[in-house]
Amino acid sequence: MSHDALIGRGLAEIDTPALVVDLDAMERNLALMASFAREHGVRLRPHAKMHKSAALAQLQMAAGAVGVCAQKTAEAECLAAAGVSDIFISNEVIAPAKLQRVALLARRLAEAGGQLSIAVDSVTGIERLAAACATADAEIDVFVEIDVGQHRCGVAPGAPALALARQIVQSPRLRFAGLQAYHGNAQHFRTAAERRAAIKRVAQEVAETVALIEGAGIAVALVTGAGTGTFALEAASGIYGELQAGSYLFMDADYARNEPDPAQPRFEHALFVKTQVMSVSATHVVCDAGHKSHAVDSGLPKVWNFGAAPTLEITGCSDESAVVKSLLGGSLPALGDKLWLVPGHCDPTVNLHDAMIGVRGGLQHGVVERIIKVDARGALG
Ligand SMILES: Cc1ncc(COP(=O)(O)O)c(C=O)c1O
Repeated sequence: MSHDALIGRGLAEIDTPALVVDLDAMERNLALMASFAREHGVRLRPHAKMHKSAALAQLQMAAGAVGVCAQKTAEAECLAAAGVSDIFISNEVIAPAKLQRVALLARRLAEAGGQLSIAVDSVTGIERLAAACATADAEIDVFVEIDVGQHRCGVAPGAPALALARQIVQSPRLRFAGLQAYHGNAQHFRTAAERRAAIKRVAQEVAETVALIEGAGIAVALVTGAGTGTFALEAASGIYGELQAGSYLFMDADYARNEPDPAQPRFEHALFVKTQVMSVSATHVVCDAGHKSHAVDSGLPKVWNFGAAPTLEITGCSDESAVVKSLLGGSLPALGDKLWLVPGHCDPTVNLHDAMIGVRGGLQHGVVERIIKVDARGALG
């Protein structure tokens, strides 16, 4: 049955494996995050690399987000083509041909009343971006990315960030918009104390960098960053003006392993892989969802027990199947039984699917309400 033909039908009609969104849980997550940002006086710009869906980006903006982040040029192009008007590429782009696309997209979005902005961390990146903007007759807001501990992209805080800010200010068509300071590793520090200590240090470094740049006469209008693991800490820092959390909307199994922080709202799992048992033995059963259905980079999926303590666990995955064992010697499911898996990592899981099946009314008695297209699936360039 085609995805669209499922609309209005019960859960039993969803063939396996399938990526399913519990719409009620997702909307509760959406509302919780939107009200958190409102109450704390910070802008919310959720990361759309997580869901890659223009419809969900628009839902987030309708709930108060100022726009979304994208991580790749092609991702930004897909979201813009599907109607998303305010996109920040929170990542570096260096190939001149790609920067040409960035500049063209910036012009097109600006002409339509929207905007595109981008992060940089090199002299060459800024020179090439400025050249592309000149060719395309475009202007763009530019954030200097500083490395606050993830040791991925970004220049060191302090003088190197000031040097790039100066270069941007001196580049025609580029507007210095502020700093990006995202500590990806801290999102997954397991204890709340570790996350607090990390973001306290980060906030200090960011504050010193802001003071240095402003001391040189360049206004730092905005500091943007944060993810689902730490956003309450950045929001409380008084330094960050914008939160980029993405995974909160679906809440994967890896994030659920973080010790909760009372300062943060608790999100529910909203993304599931529906699977069924296709082979049984005395010791285990095998279901029909493997790592072509769900990413395993952040650990194997959890078998969802509808909020109760798990009774089954996935012990191994291959391309198209996963081995399921019983915890504590309990009974195993039978042939054809359906299971719901909570993926270890939502972003790369979504990227494996063309569409997500949105269910209203829960995973036991719900009905398919909508199909959510993964617009930017595979948009990696
Ligand atoms: C630059 C940047 N900002 C924000 C996020 C959002 O993080 P999360 O989906 O963990 O909330 C990410 C995710 O990797 C990221 O790379």
